[in-house]
Amino acid sequence: MIDKITLKDDLRFNELGILVNNNFCNLFNLESLINSPIDDIYGYYVNNYLVGFIHVSKLYETLDIVNIVVDEQYRRQGIATKLINYVCESYDDINNVMLEVNEHNVKAINLYLKNGFYEINRRLRYYGQDTAVIMKRDV
Ligand SMILES: CC(C)(COP(=O)(O)OP(=O)(O)OC[C@H]1O[C@@H](n2cnc3c(N)ncnc32)[C@H](O)[C@@H]1OP(=O)(O)O)[C@@H](O)C(=O)NCCC(=O)NCCS
Repeated sequence: MIDKITLKDDLRFNELGILVNNNFCNLFNLESLINSPIDDIYGYYVNNYLVGFIHVSKLYETLDIVNIVVDEQYRRQGIATKLINYVCESYDDINNVMLEVNEHNVKAINLYLKNGFYEINRRLRYYGQDTAVIMKRDV
């Protein structure tokens, strides 16, 4: 089941976030994000247990995927795909979805390519030595 995350999931949100970025807890605060007018976070729940989430940020007609993560034990079951499709269908007033991904993150790049994203640009050394691939999906 997909639903908006609430503060009761703060601990799990941070546990999952560390799988994306070691510094996640210092970069993202669930309470601020829940109160932000431009951010939304949707969780994927199995028996009320948070096993993945997608964080999006909306500015005018563009939706940015800020983070997407799935618990290692629940991967390769189509959960990230469901989260992506859910956000793409949840906003009437967007015409594109954008994201940036480390050029070496093969899992994520494959996920995005499989779900209709295409590369539009690159930012050299955006992640330290690594380049960011900017991808877009028209909706
Ligand atoms: C990337 C991530 C979100 C994918 O989640 P997931 O639920 O396993 O993805 P899905 O099951 O929807 O996979 C869809 C497609 O993505 C690609 N993919 C997913 N995992 C992959 C892997 N380990 N190797 C290669 N391709 C992979 C495949 O094309 C897959 O389709 P298939 O299973 O039919 O071959 C997950 O691996 C993750 O949380 N990684 C760590 C966090 C991260 O890097 N997030 C993205 C940057 S913010």
